[in-house]
Amino acid sequence: MRTITLINGDGIGPEISEAVVKIIEASGLKIDWDVQTAGSDVIEAEGTPLPERVLNSIKKNKIALKAPVTTPIGKGFRSVNVQLRKSLDLFANLRPCKNLAGVKTRFDGVDIVVVRENTEDLYAGIERQVDEDTAESIKIITRKASERICRFAFDYAVKNNRGEVCVVTKANIMKLSDGLFLDTYREVAKDYPNINQREILVDNLCMQLVQNPKQFDVLVLPNLYGDIVSDLCAGLIGGLGIAQGANIGEDCAVFEPVHGSAPDIKGQNKANPTALLLSAVEMLRYIGENGYAARIEEALHKTLNSGKMTADLGGNLSTTEFTDEIIKNL
Ligand code: NAI
Repeated sequence: MRTITLINGDGIGPEISEAVVKIIEASGLKIDWDVQTAGSDVIEAEGTPLPERVLNSIKKNKIALKAPVTTPIGKGFRSVNVQLRKSLDLFANLRPCKNLAGVKTRFDGVDIVVVRENTEDLYAGIERQVDEDTAESIKIITRKASERICRFAFDYAVKNNRGEVCVVTKANIMKLSDGLFLDTYREVAKDYPNINQREILVDNLCMQLVQNPKQFDVLVLPNLYGDIVSDLCAGLIGGLGIAQGANIGEDCAVFEPVHGSAPDIKGQNKANPTALLLSAVEMLRYIGENGYAARIEEALHKTLNSGKMTADLGGNLSTTEFTDEIIKNL
C-alpha cells in the first residue's frame, strides 16, 4: 500500500480533506495516509507552523496532498505554503484551468495551463522598513530558476500535446528582473521549435483573458504574476472551488488546490471539495494510478453534469451531500 503525506490544513481544509479521503477510499484504492498537522494550531506546542516532521514526511513519501493553510495578513509568521515550496524546492506550480461540464460560465472551451515559478520573485519575502513611512520589497529573479521553469513549461507542452507556451512579464518596466526571465524564455524556446512562442505583458494578458480566454494555451510566469493570474483563470472556469494545482520539484510533489482556507465559510459544511479532489486526481495520475483517477474524475463529472453542486457553483448541496453524490456515481 502506498503511503502519502496528508496535510489537512485549517479553515475549510479539514472538511474538504475528509471529503476527498472518503471518495478515494470509496473508489477502492487503498492509501496509507501519513497525516501531518501544520499552521497556527501547532505553533504553541512545536514553536513553528511548519515543523521539521512535516518536511521529513514529504521527503520520505515523495508525494503529499495538501489542503490550505491560513497565513496571517500583514503580520505574524511567514506563509507555511511558501516555506514548504522553498524548503522542498518545489519549483514548478502547475495550475490547469479547464471548463467542467455542467458548470455554467461566461466562456466555453477554456483550457489554459498556468505554469508559475514557485521559489523566488517578490515571494522571496525580502522586505525591510526603510523608515517609518517607507517599506521596501526586493524582487529576485535568477537565470537558474527562470530556465528550469521555462523548460518545465515547454516539456509539459510537448508531453501533453499543447501547441504554444506564452511567456508573461512586465519587462517593459522591470527591464532587468523580468527582462532576465524573458531572455531566458527566448533561449529555452530555441530548443522547442515545434512549440509556438508568444510574449505578452501581464496587464494586457489580464484584459485578453477576460475578453477572449480561448486564445491561450500554456502560460509561463514569474511567481507573483502566476499567483494573481491563476486566480483570474480560476474565475473563468467557475471559481476557486474547482481550481486544482500541484507543486512539483525534482524529488517530491505536493498537490493542492489554488484556493486558500476560506475562513468566511469555515465549519459550515459549504465548501466545495472539487479543487482538492481534482488535485488528488492529478496526484493519482502522477503515481500511476490512472484507472482510479479516471473513475473518480468521471464520477465527479457525472455529479456536476446532473446539476448537483455546492453553493459556490450555484447549487444547493452541502459539502457532505455533494461528497455522497460523487460516491454514488463511482
Ligand atoms: P480564499 O481562496 O481562501 O477565499 C477566497 C474566496 O473564495 C472566499 O470567498 C471563499 O469562501 C471562496 N472559496 C475558496 N475556496 C472555496 C471552496 N473550496 N469552496 C467554496 N468557496 C471557496 O482566499 P483568501 O480569503 O484570500 O485567503 C484565506 C487564507 O488562505 C489566507 O490566510 C491566505 O493566506 C490563505 N491561502 C492559503 C493558500 C494555500 O494554503 N495554498 C492559498 C491561498 C491563500
